[in-house]
Amino acid sequence: REVESSAAALDATSAEAVEAFRLHWLGRKQGRLKAVSDAWLKAAPVEAKKLLGQRFNALKAQVEARLDDASSASSASALDAEAIDITLPGRARRLGAEHPLIKTLNEIVSIFQRMGYSVGVGPEVETDYYNFESLNFPPNHPARDTQDTLVVAQQERKPLRDRLLMRTHTSPVQIRTMEQQPPPVRIVIPGKVHRNDAADATHSPIFHQVEGLCVDTNITFSDLKGTLDHAMKELFGTSVKTRFFPSFFPFTEPSADVQISCPFCGGKGCRKCKHSGWIELLGCGMVDPAVFGFVQQKQPGYDPKKISGFAFGMGVDRIAMMKYGISDIGLLYGGDQRFLEQFG
Ligand code: PHE
Repeated sequence: REVESSAAALDATSAEAVEAFRLHWLGRKQGRLKAVSDAWLKAAPVEAKKLLGQRFNALKAQVEARLDDASSASSASALDAEAIDITLPGRARRLGAEHPLIKTLNEIVSIFQRMGYSVGVGPEVETDYYNFESLNFPPNHPARDTQDTLVVAQQERKPLRDRLLMRTHTSPVQIRTMEQQPPPVRIVIPGKVHRNDAADATHSPIFHQVEGLCVDTNITFSDLKGTLDHAMKELFGTSVKTRFFPSFFPFTEPSADVQISCPFCGGKGCRKCKHSGWIELLGCGMVDPAVFGFVQQKQPGYDPKKISGFAFGMGVDRIAMMKYGISDIGLLYGGDQRFLEQFG
């Protein structure tokens, strides 16, 4: 009876109550069973030992049965505490957003993919040969000054053509692509480029370009104009117009700078286009026959008497800034979540 009444105090959810019960009955020095054993069992006359032993064992079994019940109940309730409450609302996870630069870059690339262009890449650490010489910038030619080149240190012992630098434009990948495959070629090349420019709201020493190259028989300047006009309409809307101005790049002849009518004011003049109605967006031109000459060392199929081509290069950062109304290029490289999460 005493076992049952003390077991009634067992609180199944409390491990302490179970332990107190165990100590009270089974404690090795002061437990009740020890006391019963000392006072009755050991002192009993031989004839009574058998009966007393049976009763003692029954008592012990009763205590242990109560303990078993209690401890399995308390471990079940510990499990309950850990169980998942499926009625709770879920925890909202913050979703990442595509970076506005990558978004713009992908958009430009896919416009050209829809016109049948494939996508290429090339190294950011480039040799003098691919960044300059094969693009018809001779050694010491002043046109190299326009590129604000960041060079890799300790290259002076190498021949000029092998010296390493950070590519200043994606145009070296034009050469690398043509060296790998005979004409025809239709390729766009997105990538990072580097220039020794001090950072300000419109300059960053690292920025992005998308290069384009199309080489085939009978490619003309009208193909170049039609292609870029279409691409700009896809990018900024069909009401956007393009116009071409004479320009100079060593690797294209003739060369042109392309302006688009301001997509913000429709060409009427606003702050974004500095009230001119036009925004300059890219450089382009017909591939200079001298460039095909360099490529012919590896791919004789690029014979300027049989084929022709055009190339263009555009700054992705400027286009992204225009599209999303970003006034400081530094925001594109700062990694500030408050800025980035707006593009989700
Ligand atoms: N590579 C030139 C630049 O970075 C852009 C360009 C590319 C011009 C292809 C003509 C043809 O300034």
